[in-house]
Amino acid sequence: MRITIVGCGYVGSALASHWHQQARHWLRVTTTREERLRELAPLADAVQRLDAADPDQLRQALETTEAAVFCLAPGGSRQVDADGYEATYLRTMEAVAAVVPQLPELQQLVYTSSCSVYGEATGLVEEDTHPKPREPHAQILRDAEDLLLACRSPHRRVAIARLGAIYGPGRELEPRFRSLAGSRRKGDGSSLISWIHRDDVVATLDWAVEQGFDGLINLVDDEPISVRELIDRSCHAAGLEPVIWDGDNERVANPAAERRISNRRLRELGLSLQHPRLRILAA
Ligand SMILES: NC(=O)c1ccc[n+]([C@@H]2O[C@H](COP(=O)([O-])OP(=O)(O)OC[C@H]3O[C@@H](n4cnc5c(N)ncnc54)[C@H](OP(=O)(O)O)[C@@H]3O)[C@@H](O)[C@H]2O)c1
Repeated sequence: MRITIVGCGYVGSALASHWHQQARHWLRVTTTREERLRELAPLADAVQRLDAADPDQLRQALETTEAAVFCLAPGGSRQVDADGYEATYLRTMEAVAAVVPQLPELQQLVYTSSCSVYGEATGLVEEDTHPKPREPHAQILRDAEDLLLACRSPHRRVAIARLGAIYGPGRELEPRFRSLAGSRRKGDGSSLISWIHRDDVVATLDWAVEQGFDGLINLVDDEPISVRELIDRSCHAAGLEPVIWDGDNERVANPAAERRISNRRLRELGLSLQHPRLRILAA
């Protein structure tokens, strides 16, 4: 198959590396930065510099492609800035919608969205739970999903994976949380977070392309974990001062703080996770 990965950062590079090692597909990857062309060259058959929000550049990248995987995210300080999200996700999906009618060979679009689209949703959250984005940037992700879903046709499948927070090699959790040792924090840390290991993201995207999956899938591990447990156990394991929690029960103040993202569909589809639970250093 001829595949293009648009956005080759943490996830995109790992996916490219996986496919390149398999040597079963012809692979193109993209970057917005001239200086990354050389770094990415060993991962693919072709590397293209492009801003995915530019329809002409995007059409060129996807011209002979059968499957496109969109793993892009705003970089640097724009990480959770609504303007950066709009410029990256919305403009890109508008460009996709504009060019797909001219790309008859393109049979599948795969996109890594986020569980943040569920926002205010409470309780057990499945793929058919109505998303209620809370922050402007989450609403943008939701709008981007809709633009992509509108590209579906009898000849073109659209797969959207809603990811939990990603961790893995180079993005380990413990150093992030240890830096909070001894600090005083608002709330009681009872908010739950769903995580997913980078290698499980790669395996699921690979599966989605191989199977020609069409639909939505939550991509989270089996058990969400509270912020408090993560921080306390990380600090304890490192012999550091504990964090002082001095606020109200977060789940009372915000019912969405105790929502559980379900990965039941993932399991029903026969997918298994290499990292079904977060491994935290012994408490
Ligand atoms: N990180 C998380 O915890 C998390 C949670 C939920 C969902 N997700 C989703 O998972 C996906 C992968 O995340 P990641 O952590 O791998 O992201 P990342 O490491 O930040 O990489 C994103 C890549 O997107 C590229 N990019 C940015 N703007 C672009 C544009 N206009 N056109 C083309 N490419 C562009 C960048 O390429 P260059 O720098 O090479 O130009 C960058 O390498 C994203 O879609 C993200 O929204 C992530």
